Amino acid sequence: MTSEQSQEYDDAMVSLLEQVWGDGFLSPGGPDEIRMIVDGIELSGKTVLDIGCGTGGIGQFLAESFNPEQIVGVDVDPGLIERASNRAKQMDLGERLRFECVVPGPLPFEEGSFDVVFSKDAMIHIGDKEALFEDIFRVLAPGGVLAACDWMSSTEGPFSAELEKYIELEDLGFGMGSPARYRKAMAEAGFNDIQMTDRNAWYKPLVSKECEALSGPLYERLVKTVGQEFVDHSIDVWHALKVVVDRGELRPNHMRARKPAL
Ligand SMILES: C[S@@+](CC[C@H](N)C(=O)[O-])C[C@H]1O[C@@H](n2cnc3c(N)ncnc32)[C@H](O)[C@@H]1O
Repeated sequence: MTSEQSQEYDDAMVSLLEQVWGDGFLSPGGPDEIRMIVDGIELSGKTVLDIGCGTGGIGQFLAESFNPEQIVGVDVDPGLIERASNRAKQMDLGERLRFECVVPGPLPFEEGSFDVVFSKDAMIHIGDKEALFEDIFRVLAPGGVLAACDWMSSTEGPFSAELEKYIELEDLGFGMGSPARYRKAMAEAGFNDIQMTDRNAWYKPLVSKECEALSGPLYERLVKTVGQEFVDHSIDVWHALKVVVDRGELRPNHMRARKPAL
């Protein structure tokens, strides 16, 4: 993996995102969206890697709901890994749920280490999609499954002024790619049964509600916890996000692919 990003999600950002999207979630959709991403995949007794695990809410949900043998969450941000590890300690699942800080670049796992690789809205930070999917393919066991979601641009560019504005305001070290590029990178890495599911129509009404909530019912509480300047800036970011989601230029997509069995 190639990303220089390492501590963009500071305390204020985490607090704000979790108040909008739920405890342990730094992306939209909560448990319903996770259930949909892994729908139909056998997780019971399996080993699962979560790339870009954030504060660990997804790892917790997967561990509580699907009885995997082990979930390992990795992230490049030590502050987030500390939060996720505290979450795991409280759950007292020992080695069944653990979180590791990694450096950007190849994953620190042997070939064939996992039955399932999961990721939610983290690949956007990794510009080299081709290297990313080659590495995911490597760490998956034969017959293993990739089940993920990410924010994708509708094209490889050039991007509209509106999308450039959103990327600049968000300032989170994004390296966006289109669904076509993800699909090609997965195929070239050796994956079969590649499926992409566009979630733009689902997120469109939700992003409007999030904008309303930030300026309305959530505003005072957010100002108390993270300060007015940051909340007002976040409202600007969210409105820029809403514009590019409405225009169809930023599209959450689910993806599913399988490493061929031996
Ligand atoms: C939008 S957050 C999503 C977190 C979590 N998956 C969720 O949905 O709640 C993106 C995450 O990707 C992590 N990240 C950024 N670059 C990464 C990399 N090269 N490898 C792994 N994680 C990375 C960030 O630190 C952050 O936790």
